[in-house]
Amino acid sequence: MIVSDPNFPYKAIIFNLDGVLVDTASYHYTAWRMLANGLGFDFTEQQHEALRGLSRMASLERILQWGGIYMSEAEQLHLADVKNNWYTKLITEVKPSNVLPGVVTLLEELRENGIQLALSSASRSARNVLKSTNLELFFDEVVDGYSTRKSKPDPECFQLAARALGKSPADCMVFEDSMLGVKAAIYGGFTVVGIGRDEYLQEAHYVIPGFQGLSFENLAAILTNESIISNRNWFAWSHLRQKSGHFLPDEADFCRP
Ligand code: G6P
Repeated sequence: MIVSDPNFPYKAIIFNLDGVLVDTASYHYTAWRMLANGLGFDFTEQQHEALRGLSRMASLERILQWGGIYMSEAEQLHLADVKNNWYTKLITEVKPSNVLPGVVTLLEELRENGIQLALSSASRSARNVLKSTNLELFFDEVVDGYSTRKSKPDPECFQLAARALGKSPADCMVFEDSMLGVKAAIYGGFTVVGIGRDEYLQEAHYVIPGFQGLSFENLAAILTNESIISNRNWFAWSHLRQKSGHFLPDEADFCRP
């Protein structure tokens, strides 16, 4: 039996998928762009940053606003299907080599050290991507776009993952690449490490460019460092927590009998 490392400050880690473990964010961008181009407009990769973490329908709504296009709900549902068909075709080429650098080593080390792992993604294709990249075996629980009802920054997707693991948010940390996902984790009372560029992730407790070279020991050092609770984000974090009273979970809600 693997016993979890008593010095590691969290019992569980929740990973987002797209752009954190696998570079599928670029496939979402390509498929949405094909849709926008077909409607006669375009949008930049920088604009697409704001869509990271949003549900399919919420993303479409935002894109249609950029194009100044009004559509009925039925037409929107049809367009969302069209985009999804393109996206699912594009990701048939996703393979283990598309897993981002350093991910597999870190997941292996976390498992060896008894840390429970969950995957939480707004995507309905999350399980397919996990299968085709061989990442599925690392996760105790998977929450995907079929189990969530609320789009980030609502913390529902992380709360569901913590609940599935039988842990409270205080016991879990989250890895996220999107601004909305970072906010969602903070609203839910989780510690969050941002993956990617600092400029998009300023509210995270800590930001790293990616997992390359990140060992279990390095991560433990980062998480136990005073700076994680007293860094420049502390004020934003406590402010957001205060503002988000209605999101704060009931701890008892997360404990299995
Ligand atoms: C993730 C991605 C978003 C995507 C959403 C829904 O959160 O970051 O870009 O729109 O999942 O994905 P789906 O595959 O269900 O359309």
